[in-house]
Amino acid sequence: MTQRSDIVEPVEATPAAIAEAAEHIRAGRLVAFPTETVYGLGADATDARAVAGIYAAKGRPSFNPLIVHVPGLAEAERIAEFTPLARELARRFWPGPLTLVLARRPEGGIADLVTAGLDTVAVRAPANPVANELLRAAQRPVAAPSANLSGRLSPTRATDVAADLGGKVAMILDGGPAAHGLESTVLAIDGEDVVLLRPGAVTAEAIEKVIAKPLARSLEGGDRPSSPGQLESHYAPGARVRLDARDVREGEALLAFGPEVPATQGPVVNLSSTGDLVEAAASLFSALRALDATGAAIIAVMPVPMQGLGEAINDRLRRAAAPRP
Ligand code: TXA
Ligand code: MG
Repeated sequence: MTQRSDIVEPVEATPAAIAEAAEHIRAGRLVAFPTETVYGLGADATDARAVAGIYAAKGRPSFNPLIVHVPGLAEAERIAEFTPLARELARRFWPGPLTLVLARRPEGGIADLVTAGLDTVAVRAPANPVANELLRAAQRPVAAPSANLSGRLSPTRATDVAADLGGKVAMILDGGPAAHGLESTVLAIDGEDVVLLRPGAVTAEAIEKVIAKPLARSLEGGDRPSSPGQLESHYAPGARVRLDARDVREGEALLAFGPEVPATQGPVVNLSSTGDLVEAAASLFSALRALDATGAAIIAVMPVPMQGLGEAINDRLRRAAAPRP
């Protein structure tokens, strides 16, 4: 399990502590670590259950795609498709507070929950030496949002993290106060197109010098909450989605939850046959994709309880079921 009931105190980021933290990551547990922007709440990005633990710990009522942290460009190229322009930006600003949203390489092994089912992935190589050493030692890409409870300020000191998440992580690495105290700049890159999704520590002017044109800005994405009407940046299944299904109708695929599943001849994927919400969150996006791939016109979805991660799961399902143009 990624959650612990005992409270942990920040630990000075010595080489031994970093090695221990890397072991926690490799074992699927959560580690808070310093970056030059804000502290991150990290988990193995290839382990869907570990990533579900991030959402559980933060108490986030929705699944936002997460940034994948890597030691450098070589590791980033294994999980994302770099265009020449993306490579140039990485060479100029990495390691540092720039996040690049690029086409995701399926063979990179990043869990669907990290990208909230999108075909793109956000990557960044942090400059903080503790973060860099941790990422090298973990030998895994690390998904990490800011290490605060949902709705609270982003943490710039290890003690901020302890106040919010001390009871929910395996370890908090203390690397001193974050240098920037402001999140990374998020850029989406699609061929020659570069769009600013979130302003941050790297300025638009600095980016414009590299791309040699004005930077486009998007009202989508970034940290703005997206309403069901703004589905463009979110994965939506091709099939229609029928919520709160207690039975399965002719031609429907079933997204089940829990031990008691209605009878059907059609395709079924169970989010968790034991009714475990962490397991359900971990499999949500892959399950939707798998059912979509069956070609069923409608995906019937059994009710999922609203407690814990159920809130984020239901938020995602409501968006998938919202009418589309
Ligand atoms: O400075 C930072 O970026 C910190 C440290 C820990 O690295 N992390 C951080 O993560 O701020 P978070 O989860 O709070 O913000 C991630 C941002 C969100 O605005 C999210 O929408 C965007 O990155 N993002 C991630 N993946 C994306 C994708 N595939 N497409 C569009 N936006 C994406
Ligand atoms: Mg945040």
